[in-house]
Amino acid sequence: MAVDQLTEQSVMAALGTVKDPELNRGMVELKMIQDVALIDDRTIGMRVVLTTPACPLKNRIHDDIDAALATLPGAPKAQIKWDAQVSRTGNIPQRQQIEGVRNIVSVGAGKGGVGKSTCAVNIALALSQLGARTGVLDADVYGPNVPILLGAEGAKPYAENEKILPIERHGIKLISLAFFIEPDKPAIWRGPMLSGAVRQFLFDVNWGELDYLVVDLPPGTGDVQLTMSQSIPMTGAVVVSTPQDVSTADVGRAIQMFNTLKVPNLGLVENMSYFVCPHCGERDDIFGHGGAKALAERMRVPFLGEIPLDRRIREGGGPGVPIMVSEPDSPLASVYREVASRLAAQVSVRNFKQASVIPLRTI
Ligand SMILES: Nc1ncnc2c1ncn2[C@@H]1O[C@H](COP(=O)(O)OP(=O)(O)OP(=O)(O)O)[C@@H](O)[C@H]1O
Ligand SMILES: [Mg+2]
Ligand SMILES: [Zn+2]
Repeated sequence: MAVDQLTEQSVMAALGTVKDPELNRGMVELKMIQDVALIDDRTIGMRVVLTTPACPLKNRIHDDIDAALATLPGAPKAQIKWDAQVSRTGNIPQRQQIEGVRNIVSVGAGKGGVGKSTCAVNIALALSQLGARTGVLDADVYGPNVPILLGAEGAKPYAENEKILPIERHGIKLISLAFFIEPDKPAIWRGPMLSGAVRQFLFDVNWGELDYLVVDLPPGTGDVQLTMSQSIPMTGAVVVSTPQDVSTADVGRAIQMFNTLKVPNLGLVENMSYFVCPHCGERDDIFGHGGAKALAERMRVPFLGEIPLDRRIREGGGPGVPIMVSEPDSPLASVYREVASRLAAQVSVRNFKQASVIPLRTI
């Protein structure tokens, strides 16, 4: 085989045709393919730098690279070293960045009890397990229960250099309103006090370096959503719904609220979507099928996936141990991983588009 026909030039020309499937631009041009080197006559080594470690299209990219190399003499194969550099949401006028935090993704819902917190927590854990530095901000003023879900109930975060340090559980960082209110004393938040508290959470916490900060918002459309979207450059929002409330106006209203607040809608998740019989494994679409997906299409919002109604999601591995931690290899965990990957991909696409219209400032 004529190895000597393989030149750096011909290899780079072949790789130059490979496009990132979501950004639809050349991966060499975007510097996503780096350190290309001829390892032997059949193998070309390279580093592929993705915009998120939670990239759902790794296999597809690998195939595309091999297909491009197949046009070269000897059809060498790629030996890929995967890497990721999570992109950062750019500046937005009048919004203050949270130091060290690259992307802020809010999780909202049209109404309470649809599984918003459970989704937020498991998506955050999935992102973390896929290799992203992840935190959760529990901003649900009405029922901040993320500490319970993550086994951090009663935790008291320390302050250092006048900044609050988050609690760490299962590999993710956590700050909750619950840490700052007295147990058994229901907090009554009034408008100005509320936005003061929210701002404190946003700017007085030392998160360190985070790729994704997942925010559990209160349900519905209200002051917290308004304050948050006016204070920080939110990357976008995820709306969680159940099949039943798709037929009501709540979900549409939540999506519409984010549109009005100019917070990009990153996607809709259908929770408690279907039931898998624990005895025979048969799937039962108790509430019908496809409602949320159709609504997402109608409202031009990405559809991120369907999460089944399953007792193991509620129970996890016992109190404080979500399913992503107790059964990371289960099909249920894969469902959350897929949702998290699609979400991460949407974040990358958003940031890419934003960077293409707003000139990048040097940091
Ligand atoms: N996919 C699911 N399968 C089974 N149970 C679930 C699922 N998702 C959530 N749950 C359960 O439903 C209940 C409500 O979930 P969760 O607390 O996450 O909802 P929420 O929307 O955050 O509610 P709230 O409005 O009170 O904050 C919890 O008991 C939770 O364990
Ligand atoms: Mg909740
Ligand atoms: Zn059955």
